[in-house]
Amino acid sequence: MSRLVVLHGVNLDLLGERPAEQYGTITLPELERMVAGEAERLGWDCLRLQTNHEGCFVEYLHEHRRADAMIVNPGAWTHYSYAIRDALELVGCPVAEVHLSDISAREEWRRHSVISPVVTFTVSGKGPAGYIEAVRRLVEMSGG
Ligand code: DQA
Repeated sequence: MSRLVVLHGVNLDLLGERPAEQYGTITLPELERMVAGEAERLGWDCLRLQTNHEGCFVEYLHEHRRADAMIVNPGAWTHYSYAIRDALELVGCPVAEVHLSDISAREEWRRHSVISPVVTFTVSGKGPAGYIEAVRRLVEMSGG
């Protein structure tokens, strides 16, 4: 069975308590269940991980670099972590960068993603629906 790995980074464990105007009211367990449900509906297995430690995030990327597809939302690390950027370069499968909020329409420092150049595609500003879009595109890209 093909495997999708869904990786969430710093502060995303507190979704549901973060500013609703940016992130909505969905909690991380609800979001993960929704993503896993879509993956499973399409015949894929789904592994979900979250950490607030950058080194741990990098180790998850190393460990799962041979997965079939990945969704990453590194949170604020998106904007400055060259360590995560370099680790993503070693991931062999298609990777979707997903953000709940539209990072291109927020503060200046959020507009730049250091990981965008090394991922397969980015979905930003579509809320939880952006994750569903990413699952479908990744599965399609991998031949179903
Ligand atoms: C985020 C956007 C980041 O700028 C922010 O630091 C987050 C969440 C998003 O999903 O919109 O923690 O990645």
